[in-house]
Amino acid sequence: MYQLVIASNNEGKIREIKSMIEDIELLSLKDIGFTAEIPEPYHTFEENALTKASAIHQFSGKNVFADDSGLCVKALHGSPGVDSAHYCGERDDEKNLQKILDELKGADDRSAFYKAVICLIWNEEVYYFEGICEGELIEEKRGAGGFGYDPIFIPKGYEQTFGELPLAIKNQISHRGKAVRKMIAFLNEQ
Ligand code: IMP
Repeated sequence: MYQLVIASNNEGKIREIKSMIEDIELLSLKDIGFTAEIPEPYHTFEENALTKASAIHQFSGKNVFADDSGLCVKALHGSPGVDSAHYCGERDDEKNLQKILDELKGADDRSAFYKAVICLIWNEEVYYFEGICEGELIEEKRGAGGFGYDPIFIPKGYEQTFGELPLAIKNQISHRGKAVRKMIAFLNEQ
């Protein structure tokens, strides 16, 4: 069984990714003894994912992947986007979500999409895998599942939020699920 490091400290992401991956030994940052914060200073998901994956590859010498993701809201011209994790000024999911709800008060267009970009460093080569999930943002939170903005996000074609839908369904249709499946298909070819 081969090993891959997940370059993330985000418990929500790690839970989802772990539930989709079999036959690969996934190592956490804790497993490889990496305790520092990884900066994400850039304006694109690709650059941030590469920065995280590169930092962990340099530290460990192992094959590694990083997910950089976020919510892009049409009425907010694509914000919070790459700033999703700290939109309110700090890493606080609840305050971030409330800020979006405040900004969307009275908005007619509540459409949004989640985007995930995975950067994989595999045998010293860099690969990218992307996934998008379209949906709508509701006015009040529903459901305790998922993480981040999930309690206000209803994926297209569904009536429940990602906070209400079971993880298995979220993985089938989510941005991250799509990106992870593309990465798995690539790894299976290697
Ligand atoms: P990153 O660590 O910079 O990639 O931050 C990702 C942020 O985007 C998370 O902290 C959430 O705010 C948001 N996000 C990304 N994917 C999801 C998801 O699947 N559900 C809810 N929020 C998400």
